[in-house]
Formats: sequence, C-alpha cells, structure tokens
Amino acid sequence: MTPSVPVAVFASGGGTNLQALLDHEDASKIYRVVAVIADRPDAAALERARATGRDAWVISVKDRSQDEVGDELLQDLRDRGVQVIALAGYLKLIPSAVVAAYKRRILNIHPALLPAFGGKGMYGQRVHRAVLAEGAKVTGATVHYVDEEYDTGTIVAQWPVRVLAGDDAETLAARVLEVEHRLYPAVVDHVCTAVAEGRDPDPFILASIDFESAFQD
Ligand code: GRF
Repeated sequence: MTPSVPVAVFASGGGTNLQALLDHEDASKIYRVVAVIADRPDAAALERARATGRDAWVISVKDRSQDEVGDELLQDLRDRGVQVIALAGYLKLIPSAVVAAYKRRILNIHPALLPAFGGKGMYGQRVHRAVLAEGAKVTGATVHYVDEEYDTGTIVAQWPVRVLAGDDAETLAARVLEVEHRLYPAVVDHVCTAVAEGRDPDPFILASIDFESAFQD
C-alpha cells in the first residue's frame, strides 16, 4: 500500500476544520496530519491536535521578518517530511520561500465563493456579514491553492450554500462551516492522492461528494 502523505495543518483559531481532517484521516489513509502549527499559543487547534497525539507548536510571526519565519517553517516542515500544507483558519500570509518550496502543495479553505468576499481582513464573521450586506443569494466554501496574497490562488473546489431569508452572520457561518467540514477532507484526499502518485491533481469533481445536499433548505 502507498504510504500516507505527510500533511501539516496551519491554524490560528478554533480548529474545527483541523478536526474534520483528523476525523477523516483513518477512513482515508491517503494523508496523515504529522504537524499542526499555529501563530499564537491560544489557538484551540493546538489542543485538538495534542488530544490526538499530534505534534503541535507555535511559530510566531510577530515582529519577525518573512524570511526568518519562512526559514523556521521550512526547517520544521522538512524535518517532518511534510509534502502538503493545509491552512485551516490560519490568518497570516505564507512567506514566499514556503510558497515557492510548496508550489501547488498548499491549500486554504475560505468561507465564501472566491473571488467574491475574499482578501485582507475578510475572515470569520466579517465574510458572512459582507455576503448579507450585499444581498448575495448564494455563498459557500472555496478551497484554493495558496500564493503570497490573501485568497488569490487558483481555485481547486467550491461548494455553494444558499443564503436564506432570515439568515444572520451566525446562522450562515454555521451552514457554511458544515459544508467546509465535508469539502476540505475530500479535497485534501484528492490532492494527496495525486501527490502520492507523483502527478498533478485532476480537476476536483464536487458531485463525488454529494452536491445535492448543499441545497437542502
Ligand atoms: C473557517 O471558516 C475557514 O473557512 C476560514 O477560517 C475558519 C476557520 O474555522 N479560513 P476553524 O478554525 O477551522 O473552526
């Protein structure tokens, strides 16, 4: 059997997407989360990681140059043989040395349909508040490759979620998050399968993970 692809997850917050990746791992056997890196010590994602016996630590970016942070990240990632990085609520830019070393091997999940409602400052409830303020009828989740900017990398997969009359940022966030937890493990599987086979991933087909249920209301 092909060995699992070593994955690092970067997080800044609660880590429910990290949890979804951890929960899916045994069934998948395609990837293994070998490292969880946070930029702040109070990120609950660190606890989730340690609760399943994963190595989890902080690499602070505060008052440090991109080059310095990049060197530290690359050293740690290489020490653990990391092949794919999944950002899961990680709020910092990825240093360019890391982007270059992991070209099309870094994924992020964003709680809207990019390129709408993305970019600097568009995170958490701000995204859902902006969707509601614009009167958008459909939002969703996007998984994309990561480059040096916020939310601009090539889109890998999207899952639409209907905006319902009466939604507020909280109810919308909850429905989008539910979709994120299904989408992200499926896309990480998809990309890691290609990495294990030494090729670029085929286009990701959303229908393979039950598109219809996205539109239950
Ligand atoms: C998610 O909505 C994700 O799309 C965004 O940040 C949030 C992280 O949530 N990038 P969690 O920490 O995974 O619970």
